[in-house]
Amino acid sequence: MSMRLDITVDLQFGDSGKGKVTHYLAGDAGRGYTHVVRYNGGNNAGHTIYHNGKKFITHLIPAGVFYGVKSIIGPGCVVDPNALEQEIRELEEGGVSVEGLLYVARNAHVIEPKHIEEDGRDVKIGTTKRGIGPAYRDKYARVGKRAEDVPEMERFLIDMYEEFYSGDDSVVLAEGAQGFGLDIVWGDYPYVTSSHPTVAGVLINGFSWKDINEVWGIAKIYETYVGAKEFEPEDEGGVFDKIRELGQEYGATTGRPRQCNWLNIDRVVTGARMNGITHLVFNKVDILDEVGVWKLWDGGELKEFASSDDMKEYVLDRVCGLCGIPRENVVFSGHPDRL
Ligand code: IMP
Ligand code: MG
Repeated sequence: MSMRLDITVDLQFGDSGKGKVTHYLAGDAGRGYTHVVRYNGGNNAGHTIYHNGKKFITHLIPAGVFYGVKSIIGPGCVVDPNALEQEIRELEEGGVSVEGLLYVARNAHVIEPKHIEEDGRDVKIGTTKRGIGPAYRDKYARVGKRAEDVPEMERFLIDMYEEFYSGDDSVVLAEGAQGFGLDIVWGDYPYVTSSHPTVAGVLINGFSWKDINEVWGIAKIYETYVGAKEFEPEDEGGVFDKIRELGQEYGATTGRPRQCNWLNIDRVVTGARMNGITHLVFNKVDILDEVGVWKLWDGGELKEFASSDDMKEYVLDRVCGLCGIPRENVVFSGHPDRL
């Protein structure tokens, strides 16, 4: 039995294009994955995926289903059974069947109606109101329900140990949700989510650090954040409005406008180091090029560049220098459908 584990981790606040990268790795990259496993969060996520020219937004279901790869919602996640059923229907209406492909770890926790009701009253954090925080709270307070306790989940149940440690070789892609800036430990608490969108959060799903192969960090060439805290700097020239329009920076789950800011090199570097990133993708470079302003934060200082190439050179020097990532493992990519 052998296992190889690749991981995608968002280094910002979600919405960095993980859906695109994960979908690309799972399919067109031809990497032969036997499984795609979602490792954290729930249907607070919104992954925008272009498949065969059609746009899909997934919230909970791993990208493996697009390619006939076994897809598991891992025990680090929380699952709303109704949202899961609805997402299955939406995918099927779009011509993607999950039949025989979709599983939920028996020890994943379930989001109950009372969790959604409670989260619906949140004004402090600006949550997605999907019941995520209350469900994780009840998990840790040891009063929650696991998927195996809920009859309607029975047809999806899978045991991670039996699946991955009983003989067959596996090649696993661990699909992240949210991002390092929203991590319950390393994010800007309390403006965070309630899970671990990190490599540490992958391992609690029953994987061993010995099997980790590649860790793909994903960032945008600028930053966005959705939630209650003030994030967007004062926008003299309307440049963030332009980025928001051109980049379609509106929540894939809630439709809320995302606050924009320049790339924060320190955040990328911290996340890349703590997660042991081996490959790094910067998305939506074409959006910044269209706006024609190239800036980033480094050590609390705002730096401006005359061209896209100048900014990329600077980013490569800083990130590769500090994180030990080979320059050829850094990809600058556009939106929406290519790597
Ligand atoms: P919760 O995860 O719904 O509790 O929301 C907590 C914070 O994380 C809020 O600021 C949300 O907007 C943000 N958030 C949660 N999931 C995502 C995501 O997938 N993309 C972007 N922001 C997210
Ligand atoms: Mg998203």
